[in-house]
Amino acid sequence: MLEMENYDARIKTLKKELNAVILAHNYQNPEIQDIADFVGDSLALSRAAAGTDADLIVFCGVHFMAETAAILCPEKTVLIPDTQAGCSLASAISADELIRWKSKHPEAVVISYVNTTAEIKALSDYCCTSSNAVEITNSIPVDKEILFLPDMFLGSYVARQTGRKNMHIWPGECHVHAGMTFRDINRCLDAESNAELLIHPECGCTTSALYHYGEGDFNKSCHVLSTEGMIKYASSSHSNKFIVATEIGILHRMKNQNPDKTFVPLKEDAICKYMKMITLEKVYYSLRKKVYVVNVPDKVRSRARLAIERMLAV
Ligand code: 13P
Ligand code: SF4
Repeated sequence: MLEMENYDARIKTLKKELNAVILAHNYQNPEIQDIADFVGDSLALSRAAAGTDADLIVFCGVHFMAETAAILCPEKTVLIPDTQAGCSLASAISADELIRWKSKHPEAVVISYVNTTAEIKALSDYCCTSSNAVEITNSIPVDKEILFLPDMFLGSYVARQTGRKNMHIWPGECHVHAGMTFRDINRCLDAESNAELLIHPECGCTTSALYHYGEGDFNKSCHVLSTEGMIKYASSSHSNKFIVATEIGILHRMKNQNPDKTFVPLKEDAICKYMKMITLEKVYYSLRKKVYVVNVPDKVRSRARLAIERMLAV
């Protein structure tokens, strides 16, 4: 095993030699974010993958994100440094389950959160991410039934924001976000009553927090945002204290960009074990050996791409 700085230097050299780009999600370990060419949320990473002129993409995130990059860039090689980096939410629905669900609602439009496998995307009409789920849903004619999957907390949030009554929501959840409850918010607000609340829509507390905010129960404002939305909001807000309800990897960029502000994680142990599987050593090995290539069969890819492109067009 090499020292951290040695990995840094070697990764930079290999990246140049191979015309590679490193994309990292906001939940990645700090040292991975620091060597990445681009760090962002699911939507920004899809756009970065689609727009890069590199030959090789090393995707530091979870498998469905790397798969999305592979779907959008068939002419490039997409690598994931650890094939075990999955997602509990993406595993919450299988292709068979979706086929059965669709057969019960043959006229419905299927909107799949980006946290799904390529197979699920291929069976969907639209893809969405946490930053555009409301917009995508609003773009569907109001009289059309919607099947929204797989996150029930994001689904309830979207139904609340759009006022849609004809939305069926799959009962899936992310094990990291589902555990963030309104009780945690109360506990945190007792200690930090003047902090603004930033909540990821996958959190179990999203709709109850919005309800209480609407009732005037908080001193400061409450915002439901994607990870990138949270980072941007924290920089532009005049507040100097924020309670952050999402995976704690996000605090690295927030603190770097706002050294004078204070960020309190809603839960210190909100850690996505899958995101943390990516290490500098594995990124180095990935570049050196050109592993592990993310492949999506052509037939699945072309149908999944349609759902993603419909999203990007909205
Ligand atoms: P973002 O698209 O907001 O980064 O969320 C992705 C994710 O996996 C949240 O758990
Ligand atoms: Fe999936 Fe949850 Fe990890 Fe996000 S935090 S990648 S939804 S397991």
